[in-house]
Amino acid sequence: MEFFIDTAIVDEIREINAWGVLSGVTTNPSLIVASGRDFKEVIGEIAELVPGGAISAEVTALDAEGMIKEGREVAAWHKQVVVKLPLTPAGLQACKTLTSEGIKTNVTLCFSVPQALLAARAGATYISPFAGRVDDTGWDGMQLIREIKEAYVMGDIGTKVLAASIRHPQHVVQSALNGADVATIPYKVFIQMIKHPLTQAGLDAFMKDWAGRQGAGPATP
Ligand code: E4P
Repeated sequence: MEFFIDTAIVDEIREINAWGVLSGVTTNPSLIVASGRDFKEVIGEIAELVPGGAISAEVTALDAEGMIKEGREVAAWHKQVVVKLPLTPAGLQACKTLTSEGIKTNVTLCFSVPQALLAARAGATYISPFAGRVDDTGWDGMQLIREIKEAYVMGDIGTKVLAASIRHPQHVVQSALNGADVATIPYKVFIQMIKHPLTQAGLDAFMKDWAGRQGAGPATP
């Protein structure tokens, strides 16, 4: 399973990308507003920060014609841009058109398997089921991811399952175990993923022993 980061804050992207684990970045209108940056400028900067990565940039038009126009514009900003479209009739129409023009798409705000099947038929490169928001309603976001993946495998569908609305490290683990192709993960969750008290305790003990070896001189406190 690949990892994307779900943010438009370039410092967060720079830090996690330095770990060598990122294959892309997802943004949405709320994340762009939270970054306080100009949309085009920040997408260009993100694309340069993650060479070869898939960078999702979401349209804000609600009608198909507007989405297609906006989709062509954002796709022209950088070759790594993936146009993010909402899972609505207009979004599917725009997906079909943009796909036929060779533009990559990420169909977002997916909450059901029927929606995911429609997006695949419209040619979506990625489908984004929102696991955390499904959990919030009392349903099981991971079951949704598993069923979408199963339906795609049975139908020999190439659309990639991009687990979104990830809230904690176990969502990442379960996304992998349920067949997601990608998980888009907030900065905070990356930090939670790498930390383990036994790693730190083990490292502290190794360093203490190393500092106290014969001929090493007094150990630094
Ligand atoms: C995905 O592309 C979305 O930007 C994101 O994962 C939504 O997550 P949230 O439910 O935490 O806002």
